[in-house]
Amino acid sequence: MALLELDGLQVSYGAIQALRGVSLEVHDGEIVTLIGANGAGKSTTLNTISGLLRPRRGAVRLDGEDLTLVPPHGIVARGVVQVPEGRRIFGRLSVLENLQLGAFTQRSSHAIREGIARAFALFPRLQERAGQLAGTLSGGEQQMLAIARALMARPRILLLDEPSMGLAPVLVEQIFEAVRRINREGTTILLVEQNAVMALETAQRGYVLETGAVVLQGPAADLQANPEVRRAYLGQ
Ligand SMILES: Nc1ncnc2c1ncn2[C@@H]1O[C@H](COP(=O)(O)OP(=O)(O)OP(=O)(O)O)[C@@H](O)[C@H]1O
Ligand SMILES: [Mg+2]
Repeated sequence: MALLELDGLQVSYGAIQALRGVSLEVHDGEIVTLIGANGAGKSTTLNTISGLLRPRRGAVRLDGEDLTLVPPHGIVARGVVQVPEGRRIFGRLSVLENLQLGAFTQRSSHAIREGIARAFALFPRLQERAGQLAGTLSGGEQQMLAIARALMARPRILLLDEPSMGLAPVLVEQIFEAVRRINREGTTILLVEQNAVMALETAQRGYVLETGAVVLQGPAADLQANPEVRRAYLGQ
């Protein structure tokens, strides 16, 4: 059984239908990417998985359990944790305070300390800046903090919404390396990206979303070789 399954999701904003029957699966241990142009419905898909939006039709299932009536905090508690587009860290709190807030689902202080140690091992730069106000971090450091904060909730599946957006190439490399490491250490990942080159190099499988519908899917290597994908998304 899939860890996460989207089954015929239809989502509207008023009269605008943003998702027109999206189905996809993510299996335990995978990195799966969802690529697509501006406005294709990528963020809408992630926000529906997280319970921030409710589908008009269709279902989101985690280990077979329907999440569509579970409140957002319950979805986080079940191990589905999103890093939203644009990072949304708490700028007037320190790096360490941001991490502590990410641990709101963890009860023991031991688990929180362990989580902070793991976050600092993954992103040593955050340790050097533990006391710094998060709003004064660079864009790349803020993305590291947003990912590290999500990991504090000990996700089974991490939903990443365009983690490379607006970052210089060297930082993009670092973020994708961190994504691979998080996955190697046992977290399943659904990666939304406009950077299809990096996303298809990082993921095992992918889905291509166009105007609210999945138009192509398959192993990342097949998508990389697909002439339509090469023309529309890989700039070749
Ligand atoms: N709050 C909203 N109200 C009305 N329409 C919305 C809202 N949010 C998104 N949309 C519309 O839904 C469609 C899908 O938007 P979405 O943000 O999911 O796209 P996306 O693939 O994440 O794009 P991007 O790559 O630019 O982030 C777009 O046509 C967008 O204009
Ligand atoms: Mg988006």
